[in-house]
Amino acid sequence: MSSANSQPTASATELRSATYRPLVSIVYHSGSGHTAEMAHAVARGVSSGGEVAVAQHRIVDEDFKGSRWLNEEVLRQLDESDAIILGSPTYMGSVSAQLKAFMDATSSRCPERKWVDKIAAAFTVSAHPSGDKLTMLMTCSVFAMQHGMFWVGVAEGSSLGIFLGAAGRATNEPPSEMPSAEDKMTGELLGRRVAKLTARLHSSRVSTPPTTEDSPEHPSSRKTQLVLGV
Ligand SMILES: Cc1cc2nc3c(=O)[nH]c(=O)nc-3n(C[C@H](O)[C@H](O)[C@H](O)COP(=O)(O)O)c2cc1C
Repeated sequence: MSSANSQPTASATELRSATYRPLVSIVYHSGSGHTAEMAHAVARGVSSGGEVAVAQHRIVDEDFKGSRWLNEEVLRQLDESDAIILGSPTYMGSVSAQLKAFMDATSSRCPERKWVDKIAAAFTVSAHPSGDKLTMLMTCSVFAMQHGMFWVGVAEGSSLGIFLGAAGRATNEPPSEMPSAEDKMTGELLGRRVAKLTARLHSSRVSTPPTTEDSPEHPSSRKTQLVLGV
């Protein structure tokens, strides 16, 4: 992932081969920087145990032409990732339009079921204590289910009482002040949990690779592809 705002410059293959570790990718949008603070906290959590590599992509205007997603490199990196964590501010009770445009572009991965059995999670920041953040996280979890991914929520640390993902509050304060340290800790704990589960899943796959008998094709697979317009 290599836009101007992306933190890592190495490709997924380089990240993996340099480290022999599974890869957790974070894709997020942030209008004024508060969700970006949460993304960095999640990334700190992911990398804290040293078991997995982490890549971050902040969605930027250059990723689009009009409302259409153009950045195939990000999608390719996600194809190679073991876990994908989504983030955006809550806008009008849902994901931001920028994150939604990205999510819609991933429908190109549905026909081949490319993201099945990857781990998924999400985080959000909004102004109000509730602010309908939950519906933003539900949108992300349904998205993950459509891809056949495993959803991971937060196990601890949510002072807002939200467990479907990491949630924080911020309005017009500088991003260095809000979301609060406590909210960022929730993000960090989510990152740690995703990393731990990703490493565990990865090592179980290395020791017992799946066989075709483990996942026979469901008779409705073709029907699903037809519904998705393939
Ligand atoms: C278009 C728009 C819609 C918003 N909708 C909500 C909302 O539904 N609930 C809420 O609590 N805050 C809402 N907010 C406030 C933002 O979620 C909040 O300011 C957040 O911290 C912005 O994150 P960012 O700095 O990463 O862009 C909205 C802000 C904008 C600009």
